[in-house]
Amino acid sequence: MSGLESVDGSETISGPESDPGSFTVVGSTAEAESATLSRLRAVEARIVAAAEAAGRDPAAIRLLPVTKTHPASALRPVIAAGYRRFGENRVQELVDKANQLRAVEGLEWVVIGHLQTNKAKAAVTAAVEIQSLESLKLAAALQRHLEAEDRTVEVLIEVNTSGESTKFGLPPVEVVSFAQALRAYDRLRPRGLMTLALPSPDPNLVMPCFEALVDLQAQLRDRDGGGWDELSMGMSGDFEFAIAAGSTCVRIGSAIFGPRPTPVQPEPPRP
Ligand SMILES: Cc1ncc(COP(=O)(O)O)c(C=O)c1O
Repeated sequence: MSGLESVDGSETISGPESDPGSFTVVGSTAEAESATLSRLRAVEARIVAAAEAAGRDPAAIRLLPVTKTHPASALRPVIAAGYRRFGENRVQELVDKANQLRAVEGLEWVVIGHLQTNKAKAAVTAAVEIQSLESLKLAAALQRHLEAEDRTVEVLIEVNTSGESTKFGLPPVEVVSFAQALRAYDRLRPRGLMTLALPSPDPNLVMPCFEALVDLQAQLRDRDGGGWDELSMGMSGDFEFAIAAGSTCVRIGSAIFGPRPTPVQPEPPRP
């Protein structure tokens, strides 16, 4: 595990073993770190409990910590706990954090927010997985940059299962034909589907969103004879429902890192 030291009052994270060079992050206190670690452990325990209640193997559910608006220093206790893959909404924020944390060996980044085609190059360079694929225009831009870098990237198709006009993602009826069209982009590795449910504590409103994603997965598997294993669904307020419905990836921000320190900026308007 990475060595953690404090030098001259500043907090330093060293990458594991042959760290090419430690780096300094500021603003992290022992108390804040211990609070984050406690919240992380509580979320892990809730994931296990929800999986067991649903008769599922907890190991089949990955926890993707979402660091949106939290500084790179906030990741420290989560990195120390062994996590290496983090989700970010905005590509610029992802790139900034990736740079600040580049001394940590094996760190991987996932784009979970709306991705504009003009950010495709930066996303491809910095991320290993993009969960918010929702247009062929974006697929073509990603393909172009991936060819230039001779790489592939894992993608999930984002689906707007709640029908809210403020949400990104494809309407469910378009997903199967979109998945078919994606075959033309051989640098993209489609792994599954992603959605955000209606923001509500009411399972009667939330569950249909998750069930719609499961239903689409079944349609895709029927057509392709398998695959599409990833169902990224569930956030701090609804991940237990998502696990009951079949989630394989819960994206958790505030339940681990606490309330977001700065107001969340509205998503850019649709073109
Ligand atoms: C797509 C997506 N997934 C997950 C999260 C994490 O949300 P929460 O802080 O409610 O866990 C966010 C936060 O903005 C998000 O935009």
